[in-house]
Amino acid sequence: MKHQDTQALIKEWAGEEVIIRFDQPTGAWIFIALHSTKLGPAAGGTRMKQYPDWQAALADVLRLSAGMTNKFAVAGFPRGGGKTVIALPTDFDPADRAGLLRRYGMLVRQLGGLYFTGPDVGTTAEDMDVIAELGAPYVHARSQLNGGAGSSGPATALGVFAAIEATCQQLYGTASLAGRRVIVQGTGSVGGTLLGLLASADAEVWFSEIEPGARSYFQHGLGLPCIPTEEAYDMPCDIFAPCALGGVLNAQTIPRLQCRAVAGAANNQLETAADAERLHERGILYAPDFAINSGGAIAITGREALGWSPEHADSEVRHIGQTLARIYALAAAEGITTEAAARRLVTETLNG
Ligand code: PHE
Repeated sequence: MKHQDTQALIKEWAGEEVIIRFDQPTGAWIFIALHSTKLGPAAGGTRMKQYPDWQAALADVLRLSAGMTNKFAVAGFPRGGGKTVIALPTDFDPADRAGLLRRYGMLVRQLGGLYFTGPDVGTTAEDMDVIAELGAPYVHARSQLNGGAGSSGPATALGVFAAIEATCQQLYGTASLAGRRVIVQGTGSVGGTLLGLLASADAEVWFSEIEPGARSYFQHGLGLPCIPTEEAYDMPCDIFAPCALGGVLNAQTIPRLQCRAVAGAANNQLETAADAERLHERGILYAPDFAINSGGAIAITGREALGWSPEHADSEVRHIGQTLARIYALAAAEGITTEAAARRLVTETLNG
């Protein structure tokens, strides 16, 4: 990718600001994208992983921050969209993790409240504790031992669960999950919790997981059936729930899907805008990711910044099911994709 392409990426993104820091001691790149502060300070998780190259990391943070704007706007929550990507070098030494996180915390603090962060792929509540050493009070979801509300994964899973119930209501006229086959892709802090919620609701749950340790835990420890990640696309089911990385709904995978609906937690599930149409044409009901995966961000931010009780946070998260039902109704009434319907709600909130 050339210089111009990088500039085009940022121009097309149309967000407010990107902060780029090279962490000399580790060779990591830190990107903070502030997409919108229209509804409130920008908030979003810190994603930490390796990327194929610098541009891929930049592209990811830009898309993810725009997704956060959408999530908060659909939920009517007073925060804007932001996100951090920490792109680790291939030779990253885990012993350098705390130092890197502390320097990153200092950077968050320097933004002086323009941006609040929390956990995301590759970071945990314990990492938030370390970031908060210098980054407080702009760091959400610290561990409960350190006075935070803990991991955001369980609340995100609860919101996706409510969305899956609303999806069954739309498809079958009943929200009950009993006997419905659901395939969960990825068993991280969100997917793992979701598996438990679905199993308790008597769904027939299957999962796929690329990491051997987690796979063995859910397969042998909890006795849940596992399928290879690639086969998950071809297996007949009621609901396919992507809960790992983005881009899994694309021109290659959509023709293979044997599900009635897609409803999962992963950010940026559609590889391109055309993929919403592809799903629509195949008659697969799609629950727009940003409309259903906001549970963790709103529950944790609500509790830590707006004084919500745990009960209040739970009821706000369950409300995601009702919002999704509105999106389904709007899409059906207007003959548009569910993605377009959800984006219309975003635009109304941002412009209203
Ligand atoms: N990972 C969360 C998300 O993508 C980000 C988040 C967690 C933001 C907790 C704020 C507080 O929605």
